[in-house]
Amino acid sequence: MKLYIWGTGCGAGDLIDRGLDASLVAAFIDSEPHSESFLGRPVLRPEELAGREIDLIVVASRRAEEIAARCTALGIGEDKLFFARGNWRLEDRNRGYSSVEGLLDAELLAALRAPQRAVRDPLWAGDGALEEKDLENDYVRVRTLEAICRRLGPVGGAAAELGVYRGAFARCINALLPDRTLYLFDTFAGFDEAEAAGEGEGFTAAHRNTSAARVLSLLPHPGRAVLRPGLFPATAAGLEDERFALVSLDADLEESTLAGLRFFYPRLSPGGFLLLHDWASPRLPGVARALERYEAELGRALPAVPLCDLNGTLVIPR
Ligand SMILES: C[S@@+](CC[C@H](N)C(=O)[O-])C[C@H]1O[C@@H](n2cnc3c(N)ncnc32)[C@H](O)[C@@H]1O
Repeated sequence: MKLYIWGTGCGAGDLIDRGLDASLVAAFIDSEPHSESFLGRPVLRPEELAGREIDLIVVASRRAEEIAARCTALGIGEDKLFFARGNWRLEDRNRGYSSVEGLLDAELLAALRAPQRAVRDPLWAGDGALEEKDLENDYVRVRTLEAICRRLGPVGGAAAELGVYRGAFARCINALLPDRTLYLFDTFAGFDEAEAAGEGEGFTAAHRNTSAARVLSLLPHPGRAVLRPGLFPATAAGLEDERFALVSLDADLEESTLAGLRFFYPRLSPGGFLLLHDWASPRLPGVARALERYEAELGRALPAVPLCDLNGTLVIPR
């Protein structure tokens, strides 16, 4: 079977961790490849698909519209595409797919098929700082960030993100808060091996697939960004007197999340917000455990608002 996976990020890593055997994959496809191979398989640019024999492309990116259009332009019919990630438009892009059942066994297919998550006809179109592509990954999360940034007005302090990965959310913060310094904390090369031990191979490999240069190239106001590469919290040294109006805490794992709460929460300005990503994610239970441990240290529960975004962000105001 000539099976391809579109994407080399978390979505692709997740397919492998959910049971798709990487050795069955002829190649991964990425329009901006970070390296020539991923999980031991070659990475192709979309144009390299032309003329290849293809039975199935599993799309592991939420940018379904764009990828479908690209495939059409390359002469690849929608009958060859299987969309394994939800996207924010309501239509089920897989409804026309008929032959996938013959290619993948039913149990694997059920594990791969993502529920469609959607927002139809949003009421608020935003202020124009964001582009449509910013909204494709997690509409509710990004629109909430936009609304929160609107509220920050006079609140003093910088913005920060711990856990930047490829910079998709950092790009939104930078676009929405062009006048604030944006501190970006990440190794820009994946998780600390010891802390991520026990996580899936796809998960850890996908997170290595980035770089500081890639993140910087995405930012609309790169001059506002201060990159702090390396392992947090050591990379926060020297920032003890800094104050923050907005913090995105997205470190996935328990100890790093706890370190982030200990550093950022006491430094949040009154009126500021900390966005704790993955708080309700069944896949990353360490995030909620870290908050429990931090609240136990403080001796009180923090007031907070849960979001119904894709990974269950908790919005913690100050
Ligand atoms: C889920 S990704 C971040 C995704 C990003 N916030 C977004 O929405 O596009 C988690 C990131 O946290 C980083 N990370 C986790 N613990 C860290 C630590 N202690 N120091 C530096 N980076 C860390 C990993 O390298 C990884 O890139």
